[in-house]
Amino acid sequence: MVTEELQTIEAEANQAITDAGSSEMLDRLQVEFLGRKGRLTELLRGIGTLPSDQKPLFGQALNASKERLTGLIAARREELSVQERAEREQAEAIDVTLPGRARPQGRLHPLTATMQDIKRVMIGQGFEFVDGPDIEDYLYNFDWLNFPPDHPAMDEQMSFSVDDTHLLRTQTTALQGRIMQHRQPPFRIATVGRCFRYEAVDATHHHTFHQVDGFSVDEGISLADLKGVLAELARGLFGPDVTVRFRPDFFPFVEPGVEVAIRWGNRWLELGGAGLIHPNILRRAGYDTERYSGFAFGLGVDRMPMLRYGIDDLRLFLNNDLRFLQQF
Ligand code: DAH
Repeated sequence: MVTEELQTIEAEANQAITDAGSSEMLDRLQVEFLGRKGRLTELLRGIGTLPSDQKPLFGQALNASKERLTGLIAARREELSVQERAEREQAEAIDVTLPGRARPQGRLHPLTATMQDIKRVMIGQGFEFVDGPDIEDYLYNFDWLNFPPDHPAMDEQMSFSVDDTHLLRTQTTALQGRIMQHRQPPFRIATVGRCFRYEAVDATHHHTFHQVDGFSVDEGISLADLKGVLAELARGLFGPDVTVRFRPDFFPFVEPGVEVAIRWGNRWLELGGAGLIHPNILRRAGYDTERYSGFAFGLGVDRMPMLRYGIDDLRLFLNNDLRFLQQF
């Protein structure tokens, strides 16, 4: 009897819907029982075997059964969605009481910090900082600075040549000509940056190092101005008690020329060179040498943090080892 079969199928569907553990499962049950080719729909085929007075009753029973199952599926679907949402929320829950994840904090490289200190002190003394190029013209690196054509420093073996007219600058002093060819005095200019020389690398020599150069042209400039500026810089970097010493030295671009040293503990430590700008350079710039004179100095930067922090190997600055860098 199809009517009994209807009851059996409905009971089976009832059970399956109640047991369904997910909305996907419900989707499948909906197709299985109520779909166009579903088991209830299939029962309609058997309607032909019924006496004609029972056909409408069976039709009604079938529709009523479909409606009940549809309602049941909807109710179960609602139950499941509440449950599934709760599970999802549980899985995605954020424990706001957990401690935060620490981010490693960056800090300044000791050379960068030193160069910033240099700038701070020199800007305080009226210097304007200008960057020059690392790849420099031979003209500015040597010719402008009064190097004679056969000077040993110009030997290709001493520097990194780029092409016939360019090299990696061997000194930040190269900025002088670049500035002087288009500026009129008075001025105070400084620059700090990388320099390069063809050196065998060891604990105290590197092919890549840093310098600061400062120069000023004005009326009545003397060695006393130079010494005052350098003493102020040294005190700003190493403390109020540091003293600066000048001793005669030679550089083609200064006359007179001096070696600059500071007293460190009970030794004198050489930091670089300085002097009064050579009249040949002032003349080349078109300045009236009766009226104007200038001073210039150039110091190695790398030594400064080495002294300050007791670093004994210059190579550490450039090999990016965090075990070293994290100490500053
Ligand atoms: N450029 C020189 C060097 O690398 C240092 C120096 C000496 C710079 C005297 C100057 C200066 O500006 O006047 O050894």
